[in-house]
Amino acid sequence: MKFEPFQLERQQSIWENKVDYNLSESGVHPGTLKSLFSSNFIEKIENTELTYGFTEGSPELRQSIASIYPGAIPENVQAFNGSAEANMVAIMSLLEKGDEMVYMMPNYLQIYGFSRGLGVDVKTFALHESLNWQPDLDELRSLVTDKTKLICICNPNNPTGSVLPKETVHAIGEIAQSVGAWILADEVYRGAELNREECTSIWEIDYDKTIVNCGLSKAYGLPGLRLGWSLANKDYIQKCWATHDYTSIAIGRLSDMIAAHVLLPENRMKTLNRTRDALTKNLALFQAWVESFHGKFNFIPPDAGAMAFARYDWDINSSELVEKVRNEASVMLVAGDWYGMDHYLRFGYGAKKTDLEAALERITPVFNSL
Ligand SMILES: Cc1ncc(COP(=O)(O)O)c(C=O)c1O
Repeated sequence: MKFEPFQLERQQSIWENKVDYNLSESGVHPGTLKSLFSSNFIEKIENTELTYGFTEGSPELRQSIASIYPGAIPENVQAFNGSAEANMVAIMSLLEKGDEMVYMMPNYLQIYGFSRGLGVDVKTFALHESLNWQPDLDELRSLVTDKTKLICICNPNNPTGSVLPKETVHAIGEIAQSVGAWILADEVYRGAELNREECTSIWEIDYDKTIVNCGLSKAYGLPGLRLGWSLANKDYIQKCWATHDYTSIAIGRLSDMIAAHVLLPENRMKTLNRTRDALTKNLALFQAWVESFHGKFNFIPPDAGAMAFARYDWDINSSELVEKVRNEASVMLVAGDWYGMDHYLRFGYGAKKTDLEAALERITPVFNSL
């Protein structure tokens, strides 16, 4: 088994704590325990015994998660250490060497690299810039065959921030159903829609072989909890619970408690609205910055999430440009190269507003010098 380097995560691991401003993040600026909870709840946390807890997620947590999705019950939920673990376990549970997967591009390349490392045959279909980062469904249909075991989508998408309309989600469901393939939807940016309308989850289509992977790192701004989940039919949940025994056994006891509270129906929208308010203000700031370069960027604003993915019209490779910006301004951006798309940059615009302003001011002379 040989895994190719996961460029985006590797570069973030190396640089994110060394730069003055990190605009490589894809989530909103994180919350603190104090900002989220009353002193009663903090006292409860202080007095909790740090046992393994429930390896499938506590009943409270699974109930809170199930309440997000119409018709779901706790038995449809398995808790994980981040949606990254949910993704990894899904691949380990469903696929073997030589199996065929059809995968959306561009995308967060964890599932891609991990599956290829296991010897899965990964075919890709595109979100097209010319279609406002939407797929061409005929292209997807032409790739899916009787051999396709799994179709993977990321909705809302990383890095473009595009959201698939309801009809497209249903159409992808029909394509998968026509060959009996599973659909895995990474929905970790769901809830961070700028128009405040939660996008269609794959859970909402009438098909049994769907898996939603989601978590608290992005739309909820709580990546330090390392809290994710899978939502699927009961058999799959039993199967991935058993695979989870081999990966990390259980999620952190405190993360479980905190997440169960954050996801209670009466609390959840408060957190998501805080995200949406921050993103709306910051996006206006970022757009004004892009416009100050008079057409040097081609930028389709995101529908959701804290990422702005822009094509640039300067004659410099994106990894070199990111290095130049980091060296000259101590600001970290994401290179299109790390997605296999040179001449694009991903800006994390979900930083604290004052940090975003300061970082954009710092990088302006670097771009002016190109
Ligand atoms: C689409 C997508 N899925 C999963 C992850 C992993 O997130 P986490 O494990 O923090 O939930 C990321 C992180 O950037 C992501 O962009």
